[in-house]
Amino acid sequence: MILRCIECGRNYPVNDVRYRCDCGDLLEVVHDTESLRGKISRKTFDQRLSTREFPYNSGVWRYKELILDIDNKFIVSRPEGNTNLYSAEKVGEWVGVKHLWLKHEGENPTASFKDRGMTTGITVAKMMGFKKVACASTGNTSASMAAYAAMAGIKAIVFIPQGKIAFGKLAQSLAYGAKTLQIKGDFDDSMNLVEKICGQLKIYLLNSINPFRIEGQKSIGFEVLQQLKWQVPDWFVLPGGNLGNNSALSKGLKELYEIGLISRVPRIAVIQAHGANPLYRMWKKKTSFKPVQPVTIATAVKIGNPISWKKSIRGIEWSRGVVEEVSEQQIMDAKAMVDQAGIGAEPASCCSVAGIKKLVRSGIIHKEDKVVAILTGSLLKDPDAVVNYHLGKLKGIESTYANRPIQIEASLEAIRKALD
Ligand code: F0G
Repeated sequence: MILRCIECGRNYPVNDVRYRCDCGDLLEVVHDTESLRGKISRKTFDQRLSTREFPYNSGVWRYKELILDIDNKFIVSRPEGNTNLYSAEKVGEWVGVKHLWLKHEGENPTASFKDRGMTTGITVAKMMGFKKVACASTGNTSASMAAYAAMAGIKAIVFIPQGKIAFGKLAQSLAYGAKTLQIKGDFDDSMNLVEKICGQLKIYLLNSINPFRIEGQKSIGFEVLQQLKWQVPDWFVLPGGNLGNNSALSKGLKELYEIGLISRVPRIAVIQAHGANPLYRMWKKKTSFKPVQPVTIATAVKIGNPISWKKSIRGIEWSRGVVEEVSEQQIMDAKAMVDQAGIGAEPASCCSVAGIKKLVRSGIIHKEDKVVAILTGSLLKDPDAVVNYHLGKLKGIESTYANRPIQIEASLEAIRKALD
């Protein structure tokens, strides 16, 4: 295992504390896939499926050889992953595909997909002897880091854009005891500041710029494939914000392909909110990357200058994938459908489902395709968005599928009338 620059290819030892190459670009962990070929098989992972043994009971560490082959004594695990893959017929009908699965990452210990990358990130922090960790966040990374740091006995410092994260997420950061800095700016300002501070003080940076976060995050793809009995779907569709998750997904799939655990490459569709769509603009117009000033109800992906855009593009191209954008109305309509199916997810997660509907309409995803949408966070993360949608109080958004509460007198007669 080594660290390699994604741009100039320079190598660094894995125990170097660094997030960027001297040339300024991002680093990634490179595994020796050649030697892994003879060492692991589908059976290795299938045999661990029913185990209660630490750390293989985790949906991340089950794939340890492909993630971080380190001494188990350092591992900080909840255990995370092992989230459900729902076959979602009704939602499938609504978007126009026959085979739709929803991978619910909101079922992780802190209710978002971030726990997969955080178990590896905090494990490395502990192994390297750090006493403090920090991240900038739109709320889920900070919730996850705060929880894992608390479990590991490490001090957590989170940078969040003031007034711009969902309440459930702010509550988690405070509750788990993180020092919570509400920055008077947006996520991109917070990200910029936290990277500088971590460079100056002895604090370990746990945003997805950290290559070890990406390693844990790869396990979403591994787990979906294993749940599908290693049958490769036609599409993976997921939201894009800071663009770590899709970079991780494509990296993991590429490794599986190189090792020979899958023989076909699924296509990846990254969906951005229209108001926070720098990757989409670059993709669509075939221009160079330009940050945007982000505006969206999906606060989790309210990011204008995503750190991992280069990794993201590289993975999308490798998978013959696409980038799409969706409007606020499309996000909230999709959310209402996911919620009403009894599954539920936060707004940003539902970019996936809204994106599939749009890609079916434009003929890119076909009716017969097997499609996996990743739901990145729990419905309960953002109760304000839910309640205000059903009360018809979201500015500029029609509550197409509203389920309004009914105010009623405390009498049997009034109730009978209402139920009629
Ligand atoms: N969905 C949710 C619920 C998220 O919290 C995020 C990112 C994304 C999608 C986008 O994933 O950044 O890997 O492209 N949340 C980060 C955070 C930025 O700070 O919690 P991405």
